[in-house]
Amino acid sequence: MAKHILIIVTGGIAAYKMCDVCSKLSKLDYEIKVVMTKHASEFVGKASFEALTHNKVHVDEFKSSEYDIPHISLADWADMVLVAPATANIIAKMRSGIADDLASTVLLATVAPVFVAPAMNVHMLEHPSTQENIAVLQERGVQIIDSEFGHLACGYNGKGKLASVETMVSTVHDFQSKKSSLATKDFDGLTILITAGPTYEKIDPVRFIGNRSSGKMGLALAKAALSRGAKVDLVLGPVSVPIIGHENLRVLPVESALDMLQACLSHFERSDICIGAAAVSDLRPAESAQQKLKKGKDDMSSISLVENPDIIATLAREKHEGQYMVGFAAETEHVEEYAQKKRVNKSLDMIVANKVGGTKEVFGADNNTASIITKSGTTQLPELSKDELAHKILDAILQERC
Ligand code: C5P
Repeated sequence: MAKHILIIVTGGIAAYKMCDVCSKLSKLDYEIKVVMTKHASEFVGKASFEALTHNKVHVDEFKSSEYDIPHISLADWADMVLVAPATANIIAKMRSGIADDLASTVLLATVAPVFVAPAMNVHMLEHPSTQENIAVLQERGVQIIDSEFGHLACGYNGKGKLASVETMVSTVHDFQSKKSSLATKDFDGLTILITAGPTYEKIDPVRFIGNRSSGKMGLALAKAALSRGAKVDLVLGPVSVPIIGHENLRVLPVESALDMLQACLSHFERSDICIGAAAVSDLRPAESAQQKLKKGKDDMSSISLVENPDIIATLAREKHEGQYMVGFAAETEHVEEYAQKKRVNKSLDMIVANKVGGTKEVFGADNNTASIITKSGTTQLPELSKDELAHKILDAILQERC
């Protein structure tokens, strides 16, 4: 039976993004109803939501021909509620139990799990009132889908951007999958060490050599593995995407490749599977300055570089029987041939190969087209979301480990 999700859209410029959320959730077989505040309906028309959900959208009315008491019917209908974008106003009303429109009244009346994705100006978000309101909601069991850093509609740069469509969809869907007895726990009893994100190699206290890896692939793998019962040690370079906590997740934040290697070596022994999804910098400055280098004073015309150790290859050399090693390979040409060579040279069991350098961006994207390469052959996959690809990689690992 389709799960019922009630989406409450409040007045933020990001309200239009909820059309995409509705479309993605309906593809995942959710039945969706939408309540909009009056302000939200100024940003996006209710016709879009009605077309996407095939259900009537309620905009702040208390009378309906369909229901006698719409706020109670909607509150009872919902298996879960997502408030997104959530303004400072609705968050404050939820904290205080104010029920002066349909959205806030439904939120007071529902006993379903509630997810709140705040989106607002950085100062409004940082305001002690908003922070306290969010903390109180969290204590009461409301799940906050954290805002992201970025350029905000108000012109500021900072935290306050609505979480990505992908994050919102996967958060509610993961919750639902976990709750559902259908959730497979085929990684129960296994520990996975995952490297993710970029590394930053320090030049001086303010400058570094880094790359544009978002860490999304590694995080998708961590999330998929957790949902399938694994314990995950996530060695994570500097990323700005929000990390959702889990009792079986240990996050080990690192900055440089040498830190990443150290953290991996300390957690390698207990792992059954090791996945190197990090974009590790191949080189680092031979020396990093203690003080900021100054133009005109210090010689900044060249930096002497040394090679970083290959983390996944170092671990593979130390692996004990039964440990399964997975790497990634981004290639611009002869993708499968080069990736297979890389797999052999690094003594890996599996390599996940991507083509890069075409018109499609892999770094930071939500989708990926990859091939899974093992000693038994190559499986080419269609374009998938990173969450879907993560599950395919885990399926292949389980199949190959047997
Ligand atoms: O050699 P290349 O950088 O293309 O290899 C990519 C794979 O090796 C990825 O799995 C990446 O996480 C891993 N790697 C590593 N340490 C490095 C460089 C790459 O673990 N120094």
